[in-house]
Amino acid sequence: MRRTLCMVVLGLAGCAGFKPDATVEHAYLLRGEGELVLARALVRTSECPALRVDGRELPMQVRAPASAVPARPVAQGVTKPARFELTVCEAALPPGTRTARVGALDLPVPVSAPQRIVVIGDTGCRMKQSENAFQPCKDNDAWPFARVARSAAAQQPDLVIHVGDYHYRESPCPAGEKACAGSPWGFGQDTWSADFFGPAKPLLRAAPWVFVRGNHESCSRAGQGWFRFLDAAPLTEARSCNDPAQDELAAHTQPFAVTLDAQTRLIVFDSSEQKGADAEFQREFAEVGKLARGAEHAVFLSHHPVLALGLPTKGKPIRPESKEMIASLRAARDGALFAPPVDLALHGHVHLFEALGFSEGGTPTFVLGNSGSMTEGWLPEQLPAASREIGGVRIDAFHTRQGFGFAMLEREDGGWRLTEFDMDGKPVLVCAVASPSLRCSNAR
Ligand SMILES: [Fe+2]
Repeated sequence: MRRTLCMVVLGLAGCAGFKPDATVEHAYLLRGEGELVLARALVRTSECPALRVDGRELPMQVRAPASAVPARPVAQGVTKPARFELTVCEAALPPGTRTARVGALDLPVPVSAPQRIVVIGDTGCRMKQSENAFQPCKDNDAWPFARVARSAAAQQPDLVIHVGDYHYRESPCPAGEKACAGSPWGFGQDTWSADFFGPAKPLLRAAPWVFVRGNHESCSRAGQGWFRFLDAAPLTEARSCNDPAQDELAAHTQPFAVTLDAQTRLIVFDSSEQKGADAEFQREFAEVGKLARGAEHAVFLSHHPVLALGLPTKGKPIRPESKEMIASLRAARDGALFAPPVDLALHGHVHLFEALGFSEGGTPTFVLGNSGSMTEGWLPEQLPAASREIGGVRIDAFHTRQGFGFAMLEREDGGWRLTEFDMDGKPVLVCAVASPSLRCSNAR
């Protein structure tokens, strides 16, 4: 019908780039290095549709063809080939784009200086045999990522940051387990669509995204999908996690800076293979300082926290979540931690909300890993005296909350304000950041 109308109104030549709308399954924008904005579309055809930018057609290139990747050794043992039925298409969005559309989907063109930034993390539905952990993936209360994404989209953000761990359905749902019966599992398209692209749709249509790689996107887990769909650099066979012999290259992606405006940058850091204070992480932490140089403000983004607390394990005191990250940072900076212009750090990995302010030498930090995946316990609102120090720096302020949600980061008086919302979009806490500390109060 539409093709017929196109031929009648514009003539056949004017419709040369036309592709049926129904081929486009998902479409989104992501931020890369500097000012780079990439449009990606996941389509059912082997050819890519055109991207319509301000009424003109731009060709999209194939980033990854549909393919089946042979089963490879994985963390959970049980595995199968990863089938990717959709073609991943890509095009750089020209600067100053006013409208962009692919198939029937309008893309949320970037604003020049994002003011309202949604932050989410740790979103997928856990299906993990080794922990006998099977989250009820069809229950909007028990796995509320779709609810979080809808509520966050309703806030009309200018930008979305996901601090990592998108994919959680690693093991098959056991026979008789009602919580996850019928769910796809493994590392192919069906699981990525169920765990991420489906529930994230309203938020993918609301604003461009910055994707941070989590440990669930390492090569022995969902790394293949990470490189096809979410990584901001060009895709190559050596950086795809398809071949275990090349995992060393794919284990680390280089840190890069996203320009928010002339004064402000986001530093995107891949901590997915964080295991110890190794030389590669030290080199990457040294790079962070170079990427921030010349900015007035820089926000450090990594999945694993640097200056934040982990959940207490049985009988043990509350401790820093990642001594390895602290050790790598210190080794890269002659014993120092972050320094200006890095004046804020955002992380995930721990499935709760934490806000930490510090005395001199620390950097205000938020952990925002409570956007859908199964919770694993909570921290007390009042920290014991013995736990009020991380990496040799005193914790000056600490706030936490129980429950799922998302955050909105906004600029305020040359600094930052962060509002924590519950999963239905009700504001819960408002935090004013004044580096190196912060203060949170109940939202009114
Ligand atoms: Fe994680």
